[in-house]
Amino acid sequence: MIQRISILLSLCLTLFPFWTGSAVPSSPQVTHMIKKEAFGKTPDGKPVELYTLKNKHGMEVRAMTYGGAIVSIRVPDKKGHFDDVVLGFDKADDYTAKVPYFGAIIGRYGNRIAKGKFTLDGKEYTLPINDGPNSLHGGNKGFDKVVWEAEPLEKPDEVGVIFKHTSPDGDEGYPGNLKMTVTYTLNDKNELIFEYHATTDKATPVNLTNHTYFNLAGDGQRDILGHELLLNADTFTPVNKTLIPTGKIVSVKGMPLDFTKSTVIGARIDQKDEQLIFGHGYDHNFVLNRKDKGLTLAARVYEPAAGRVMEVYTTEPGVQFYSGNFLDGTLTGKQGHVYKLRYGFCLETQHYPDSPNEPSFPSTILRPGQTYHSTTVYKFSTR
Ligand code: GLA
Repeated sequence: MIQRISILLSLCLTLFPFWTGSAVPSSPQVTHMIKKEAFGKTPDGKPVELYTLKNKHGMEVRAMTYGGAIVSIRVPDKKGHFDDVVLGFDKADDYTAKVPYFGAIIGRYGNRIAKGKFTLDGKEYTLPINDGPNSLHGGNKGFDKVVWEAEPLEKPDEVGVIFKHTSPDGDEGYPGNLKMTVTYTLNDKNELIFEYHATTDKATPVNLTNHTYFNLAGDGQRDILGHELLLNADTFTPVNKTLIPTGKIVSVKGMPLDFTKSTVIGARIDQKDEQLIFGHGYDHNFVLNRKDKGLTLAARVYEPAAGRVMEVYTTEPGVQFYSGNFLDGTLTGKQGHVYKLRYGFCLETQHYPDSPNEPSFPSTILRPGQTYHSTTVYKFSTR
């Protein structure tokens, strides 16, 4: 009997060599793939396309032209079983105004600008107020609500999609024609890379990010409170009750916002801490520890049941950790799954909120002749 088992085992090892101890199970029959297909219509009737990217390990990413949104990411768990680890819908028609930015490119200014006002080169600009007294995520029709142009990208070891959009001068109150290219690349290291480029013909604030909601347990069927999170941030930007930074940069030490050591997200989320009360949970910008301007670890998330790990690297100075506090069971997503409180979390790499009104924060102003360039990598593995 023992002999038979060991013959079977060695046969398996010969057939599936990467399945032994490797973080990335490989299925040899799968090669790179890009597919384009129709994905329904925007809420105002424009056709939307869906791009499917697949790498040689079978990891699959789907992104649509509406909002340049990530629709799904299928990655293996520790047993090699693939699941979709992001929240979203089965067709574009469901991504209406009430959907809280699922998967989308966020801009022109990701996060909040206090009272929807800022002054630049002596001129005051007014933005739509869409979040309490503030302007959030680019206003009423941010980049999450436009149809981006798209073209496929194919290289020997990676596949991708290039999204393009020009936001016109005065769009949602922001100055300057902003020409953008956002490239998503999937490589064979199970890394999904977001690269943002932009130029302008008038000085303007720019803060682009992605708003994917993750649930590493797969298929968005339970809350994310059991995930373990590490944030490479000794400090954060505390906020007032409307989630606008006070302007201070404060140590996380001794606070429920200290994720410098990997900690279960749910362990302290209900503590009577003023910052957690203001955020209804975690909804804060963390200031990343960095030695230089290159790609730096922002976060590492581990879901123990499925054994999936996601690492986030970025060139941005901050990351907004949002624990899905406004999900409330009113949205029914892919495969009929109802997204209840904290069924997904976001790690939005970014400059700090309200930077146009906080001279001490790193500048978010892009001027004519300059190029905005920012990179974020989401890397998947198992443990
Ligand atoms: C961001 C904000 C949150 C919330 C979500 C969308 O993460 O910081 O407060 O608005 O977007 O619901």
